[in-house]
Amino acid sequence: MKKVGIIGVGEYLPKKVLTNADLEKMVDTSDEWITTRTGIKERRMAAKEEATSDLSIKAAKQALERAKLKPEDLELIIVATITPDMQFPSVSCILQDGIGAKKAACFDISAACAGFVYALTVAQQFIACGTYKNALVVGAEVLSSVTDWKDRNTCVLFGDGAGAVVLSEVKRGGIISSYLGSDGSKRELLMLPAGGSRMPATHKTVDEGLHYLKMQGNELFKIAVLTMVDAAQGALKKAGLKCGDVDIVIPHQANVRIIMAMAKRMGLDKEKVFLNIEKYGNMSAASTATALCEAVTSGRVKKGDLVLVVSFGAGLVCGACIIKW
Ligand code: ACO
Repeated sequence: MKKVGIIGVGEYLPKKVLTNADLEKMVDTSDEWITTRTGIKERRMAAKEEATSDLSIKAAKQALERAKLKPEDLELIIVATITPDMQFPSVSCILQDGIGAKKAACFDISAACAGFVYALTVAQQFIACGTYKNALVVGAEVLSSVTDWKDRNTCVLFGDGAGAVVLSEVKRGGIISSYLGSDGSKRELLMLPAGGSRMPATHKTVDEGLHYLKMQGNELFKIAVLTMVDAAQGALKKAGLKCGDVDIVIPHQANVRIIMAMAKRMGLDKEKVFLNIEKYGNMSAASTATALCEAVTSGRVKKGDLVLVVSFGAGLVCGACIIKW
């Protein structure tokens, strides 16, 4: 099997910033509640004309440039998203056309907040086996399009953005191990009920707000902490590593309290945990993708570092991977 590593990272965050103060004018909430309960101060909102593929294209172009590859060098594109431009075609096909990646196979992955880790792991297999040489993996969301802006329980949490990485064969390091998990029996804790084959769109579903994301945050909180710990330990075990070996952790940015509870349970040094939740909120698949990108471009991830990416989301699903940088 070939070693597979990340050779370029990119991100795109929409220009518009929605602060906690803005939300105070929209629903019965406060900056104090949002900050202490979640760690979020502001989030980005896609413009009306911006869909998930538009964000993906910008992040992908940056990642390709940094990887010093041309779009035609890509043989595989995977986009992890739960907010595609439309039911079909896939965002990855729209992205493929948008960047001119004429030789790439394309598909999307629906694994919510764990989507980026799922997509990384899938792309890694294709390169490790020698099927493809270069792959683009994107985590991108326009969660504002499925947010109920009248529901204070959810609207304060989410944001829009995209992160991208280019994967290729490397001589040293790369993705050492990954762990993917699921528990579909708890799918009702976080879902978007209407618009699919179970409940096709009707006037009634729209009137009842069933095209908005529904979440039982309280229940998810406890599960999130335990599941993230399990996933992280699963990936460490596969790699034959201990928690103390890790140099930096890139967790899914759903709630700073979830992240810190996970770190405490694992006995992880808080200083090793990378956070960007304050600026962006929860961007589902885009959270770990942009956090990884920012950890790399800011110099927090250095050559030779052991990076643990760990996430959890709707499905329920979880995923973790360990990358030697
Ligand atoms: N402003 C003010 N008060 C609020 C707000 C708000 N924005 N939202 C809820 N409240 C109130 C509730 O109504 C409740 O009031 P009550 O006690 O009078 O009923 C009180 O605050 C406490 O509500 P809880 O839900 O118990 O608050 P909690 O501390 O659990 O925080 C939160 C809520 C932030 C949603 C948390 O539970 C959480 O982060 N859950 C996990 C989310 C997650 O991980 N999702 C999975 C990934 S996302 C994905 O896959 C797309």
